[in-house]
Amino acid sequence: MPSKYLALTPDHLPELFELCKASLPLDSFSLSVLTRWVPGDPRYEPELALGIRRDGRLVGAAVGVVHTLPEGDRRGWIKLLAVDPAQQRRGLGTALLRELERRFRDRRIPQLTTTGHPYYFWPGVDVRYTPACCLFERLEFNEHRYTVNMAVDLNAQSFDTAADEKRLADQDFFFHRAPGPAESGLRDFIEREWPIWRHEVDLALGNDPVSLFYATRHEQVVAYAAYDVDMFKGTFGSMGTGPSFRGEGLGAVLLRKCLSDMKQMRYRRCEIAWVGPVSFYASNVGATISRVFREYRKSLD
Ligand SMILES: CC(C)(COP(=O)(O)OP(=O)(O)OC[C@H]1O[C@@H](n2cnc3c(N)ncnc32)[C@H](O)[C@@H]1OP(=O)(O)O)[C@@H](O)C(=O)NCCC(=O)NCCS
Repeated sequence: MPSKYLALTPDHLPELFELCKASLPLDSFSLSVLTRWVPGDPRYEPELALGIRRDGRLVGAAVGVVHTLPEGDRRGWIKLLAVDPAQQRRGLGTALLRELERRFRDRRIPQLTTTGHPYYFWPGVDVRYTPACCLFERLEFNEHRYTVNMAVDLNAQSFDTAADEKRLADQDFFFHRAPGPAESGLRDFIEREWPIWRHEVDLALGNDPVSLFYATRHEQVVAYAAYDVDMFKGTFGSMGTGPSFRGEGLGAVLLRKCLSDMKQMRYRRCEIAWVGPVSFYASNVGATISRVFREYRKSLD
């Protein structure tokens, strides 16, 4: 018997785009973001990207990938779930999640999650998508943690870094847009300090213009910051300063350089994704908490 689920391939992206636009109004979907985060994810498997058609239209979709943690554990990450507003409360969301769960079980995945990286739309379920929270709870997912984004109005500030760059140059710190003079040093730095962010760095290096700045001291890379490599267009992150160079103001300069670039590209607003240090962004660029996400998990043991 043919499966009632479609395997979503790149050919389905225009329909998936229409579905996401209709069912996820808090987000700015585009064909390019869907292409990047669905088939563009090296972990993408069409058998874990499910669609449901009714009367010739794509009315539901659930996209999962097998996410392997640095320590080797595997999780079934549900990275996208959408049902056409006119078809909601008819069991489609439940059917899609149950089928994904079955396919993850077949792959002997011990746990499902709604949060993963890289190539992510969200760092969890936005709590304002209340029906999604209700559905995950109904299907016996447990709330694991909250994550926040922050936002900055790019037209409200200049993000000028000249004075700070001059002060830091006196201490032999210099700032560059990648690839710049130390591209291989940048890759070594990421591999050493934050290998989990190597994909974000690769994506930033592939953007036009390259959306990554870094700081050097004595030709060594000591800090970096990137944008437009996570979530939707206009998103800042990831960033990091080497442990022995923290507290000098390098991160603040790199953050401002990225925001200034985004402003020049006529973005009006910057979303800072999956924030750790809220006070760093609040005090340096007046960022405020803009979105709250819940990670749901379910054990399949
Ligand atoms: C979340 C979503 C996929 C649910 O799809 P759906 O097909 O309507 O879900 P179901 O019909 O299978 O709902 C199953 C259960 O979930 C809960 N639920 C779903 N929508 C609900 C709502 N609006 N209010 C309260 N409970 C709700 C209920 O327990 C429901 O069972 P019931 O109808 O017997 O009460 C759909 O609302 C949607 O597309 N929302 C926008 C996308 C989204 O938020 N995605 C999450 C980001 S990944």
